[in-house]
Amino acid sequence: MGILISPSVLNSDLSDLAGEVGRISAADFVHLDVMDNHFVPNLTFGLPVVERLLARTELPADVHLMIEDPDTWAPAFAEAGAKSVTFHVEASSAPVRLARELRKRGARAAIALKPGTGIEPYLDLLPEFDMVLVMTVEPGFGGQSFIEGTLPKIRRTRDAITALGADIWVQVDGGVSRTTIGTAAQAGANMFVAGSAVYSADDPNAEISALRELAEAAYRD
Ligand code: DX5
Ligand code: ZN
Repeated sequence: MGILISPSVLNSDLSDLAGEVGRISAADFVHLDVMDNHFVPNLTFGLPVVERLLARTELPADVHLMIEDPDTWAPAFAEAGAKSVTFHVEASSAPVRLARELRKRGARAAIALKPGTGIEPYLDLLPEFDMVLVMTVEPGFGGQSFIEGTLPKIRRTRDAITALGADIWVQVDGGVSRTTIGTAAQAGANMFVAGSAVYSADDPNAEISALRELAEAAYRD
């Protein structure tokens, strides 16, 4: 399973989104945090901004929807060309139906779990998804500290995927930095979202390479 780095633009200069995405050409994906001020207490951008950005970048988009009623709103992000669309299981009324709608539109379908949400109810449904995002902070804001207590869930998720023999990615998001990426990789995460770590660096591409090397050294299936 390859190591993938997906920087989040949340704490970048959002008034120059295309320019900021241009600074992370070493990344595998660009992570776009869509927040609606209802599912989380913060508000970012929505479909029109994502659509316009997709026309301005070669990087595949990894859209993280922190919104209520993703069953209604998520498919449009797949139609807009997002390579991966992640929705929160806490907000979806029919996760399997929604994942199938996303895949039908050509996107990878992913579920996200807040720190307090277990993976157990979804283990039998894993083949319906292309990725599980284990949130390592409470969603809503960048710059928070990595919650170590999420590591056992990352490990249980990876073990279940390995037992299935499936090619499903495990993503972590929140507080990922040079200090924490190794433990997350060791627990079985292979895709890493990093917001402030990448965008507060003088050279975002060098930071991406450093994070990638640390994850590659630590990863075990
Ligand atoms: C938080 C977002 C994250 C955020 C991560 O709810 O989902 O993607 O940008 O930021 P850092 O890496 O600073 O914790
Ligand atoms: Zn995110």
